[in-house]
Amino acid sequence: MSSDRQDVDGYDEVWRLDLGDTVAYLALHAVLAGRAFGGIRIRPYPDERAARDDALALASAMSRKVVLAGLHGGGGKTVMIAPSDEARAACVARLGDFIESLDGRYCCGPDFGFTADDDAVLRERTRWVACSGMSAATARSVRDTMLAVLPTTRKVAVQGLGAVGAPLANMLEARGIEVAATDVRPVADERKLVPPHAILDEEADVFAPCAAGGVLDAGAVDRLRVQLVCGGANNPFATDDDARRLHRRGIGYVPDVLSNCGAAIVGASTTLGETHLIESRLAAVGPLAREVCARAASEDRSSHEVVREIADERIAALREVDPRP
Ligand code: NAI
Repeated sequence: MSSDRQDVDGYDEVWRLDLGDTVAYLALHAVLAGRAFGGIRIRPYPDERAARDDALALASAMSRKVVLAGLHGGGGKTVMIAPSDEARAACVARLGDFIESLDGRYCCGPDFGFTADDDAVLRERTRWVACSGMSAATARSVRDTMLAVLPTTRKVAVQGLGAVGAPLANMLEARGIEVAATDVRPVADERKLVPPHAILDEEADVFAPCAAGGVLDAGAVDRLRVQLVCGGANNPFATDDDARRLHRRGIGYVPDVLSNCGAAIVGASTTLGETHLIESRLAAVGPLAREVCARAASEDRSSHEVVREIADERIAALREVDPRP
C-alpha cells in the first residue's frame, strides 16, 4: 500500500491511498482540538476524480456538522472505490493501518456502503473507530428536527428504508404520522410501498430523502408536493442552485448537517468519553434547526446557505484558537 499527501486549498490533510485492489481518498477538512470525525464510504465510483470530489464535499460537510453539534473537533471523510469482493477485507485492513498511523487525528465510523464485516476488519487494525449501531440516533435527529420545524406534520414520504429510513418510518408511525415509503430493493415491510419513481410525486407534508445524496436535481425539486424536505441523506442537492430552486418554490429545508447529525453526536461523544452529553446534544438539534429555518425565512434565503454561514463562522472562530498545522 502507498499513501500520497495532496495539497488541497482549504483542507488540512488530503491523502490518496493505493490499497492494492483499489484506491481511497481520505480528506481531513479541519483537524480541530487535535481531531476530525467522519465516516468511511465505499461505493462503485465511476473514476478516481468522482471519489475524490465526494470525499472533499463530505469532509467539509462533516466539519459543519461537528461544530454545529457542539462537539470538540472538526470533520473528515474517507471514500473508497468499491474493491472486488475477494480483495475487500485486505483493502479495509490496509485502510485501518493507515488510520491508526494518523494517531487519532481522524476518528472514523461507518457510512454508506460500509458493512458490519468491514467494521469488524477495521476494528482489528485501528483504535480510532467509533461505536457501531448509531443509525437509530440519526433517525431520531431526522424526526426531531422535522417536528421542531413543522410540528403539524401528518404525512411523510420516505425515500429509502435502510438503516436510517426504516427506524425513521417506525418512529413517525409511533407518533401517529402517516408514512409513504419506497426502496429500490425488496424490503420486508408491512407498509404498502410506493414505487421508487413515484415517491417524489407523493403528496405529503415532508419528503425525507434517506437513500443516496444528490437526488434533488432541478427536475426532482419541481416534482415535490410537500412543505418541507428533511431526511438522512448527506448532500441531497445535486447542486447549490437546486437548494435555491427549492426555496423559490416555497418549500422549507432542514439542512442535512442538522437533520442527520445523530450518529455523529453518538459516535464522537463516545470517542471523547462524553456519553453523559449525548442526550443534551441530541436534544439541542431540533431547536437549532428551528432557529436556522426561521432565520432563512426572515431573510428570504435558503436554509442551506444560512446554515453554512453559521457553521463556517464557528469553524473560523475555532481556527483562531487552533490554527492550521
Ligand atoms: P442504507 O444503505 O442502510 O440504506 C439506504 C437505502 O436506500 C437502501 O435500502 C437502498 O436500497 C435504498 N435506496 C437506494 N437508492 C434508492 C432510490 N433511488 N430510491 C429508493 N430507495 C433507494 O444507508 P443508511 O445508513 O440508511 O443511510 C441513508 C443515507 O443517510 C445515506 O445518504 C447516508 O450517507 C446518510 N447518513 C446515514 C447515517 C447513519 O447513521 N446511517 C448518518 C448520516 C447520514
